[in-house]
Amino acid sequence: MIDLVGKKILVLGGSSGMGLALAKDLAGRKAALTVAARSKDKLDAAAKEIGGGVATRVLDARDDAAVEAFFKDGTVWDHIVVTVGQGGRGPLPSMSMADALTAMDAKFWCCFRVGRAAKITPGGSLTFVSGGEGHRGQIGTTLISSINAAIAGLTRGLAIELSPVRVNTLSPGTTDTPLWDRMKPEDRDAMFKRVADSLPVKRLGQAEDAAHAILFLMTNPFTTGQVVRADGGGDLL
Ligand SMILES: NC(=O)c1ccc[n+]([C@@H]2O[C@H](COP(=O)([O-])OP(=O)(O)OC[C@H]3O[C@@H](n4cnc5c(N)ncnc54)[C@H](OP(=O)(O)O)[C@@H]3O)[C@@H](O)[C@H]2O)c1
Repeated sequence: MIDLVGKKILVLGGSSGMGLALAKDLAGRKAALTVAARSKDKLDAAAKEIGGGVATRVLDARDDAAVEAFFKDGTVWDHIVVTVGQGGRGPLPSMSMADALTAMDAKFWCCFRVGRAAKITPGGSLTFVSGGEGHRGQIGTTLISSINAAIAGLTRGLAIELSPVRVNTLSPGTTDTPLWDRMKPEDRDAMFKRVADSLPVKRLGQAEDAAHAILFLMTNPFTTGQVVRADGGGDLL
């Protein structure tokens, strides 16, 4: 496994949820860690939790020029992880085109922008986070499944185009993170229970489960171009 001590690692989306759990783990491994996201307040709060001299940068991955400028500063990263994304759920007939395009931009195009602009050392890694690709189709998940399928295509293409940089994607199952804070607490808790009861592992995903899987993708030197599921067996159902 690859040693992460002193490695230059960027977690884009590291101020919350899976990215924050990963950042905390990486700080414990003495990586030279930078966490980026949009909200400075959330970054400041995360930096306190992460500790270990983490650097923070305000960056909106939806902004072409800002992403290009960020990666033009001469830094060659050892590992980059992108955990951004928002929206894309709901039945298509009631979804406006504006909302659909916004959701695609908030996740797929963010990954794409980083993939084309980032400078990563040979043998380093780029890891995205997707989610269910909806192999069986389901009402309300058509767009988010399409976004995640697009990320899978990006992953395979970039693994060839950026070689010998390794490019992989984690596809997590439902995970207890602040992503779900937009729901009414009682609805969210009921949904969490329903999901946990239905899964072969009989529990909900935790941010640390995703962090653990991302760490594998970052550090396994023989894994590239893969979408790896850590979803409690949800894909079997
Ligand atoms: N939680 C789940 O159940 C679940 C399941 C399947 C897949 N996923 C996917 O897993 C990924 C991580 O989710 P999570 O649950 O950890 O979400 P989260 O807790 O909401 O964290 C998202 C992080 O991304 C940052 N971010 C969002 N948009 C950004 C942008 N345009 N530019 C820069 N930073 C941005 C957020 O900070 P700011 O808001 O300050 O920018 C935050 O740090 C997402 O792609 C999500 O779709 C989640």
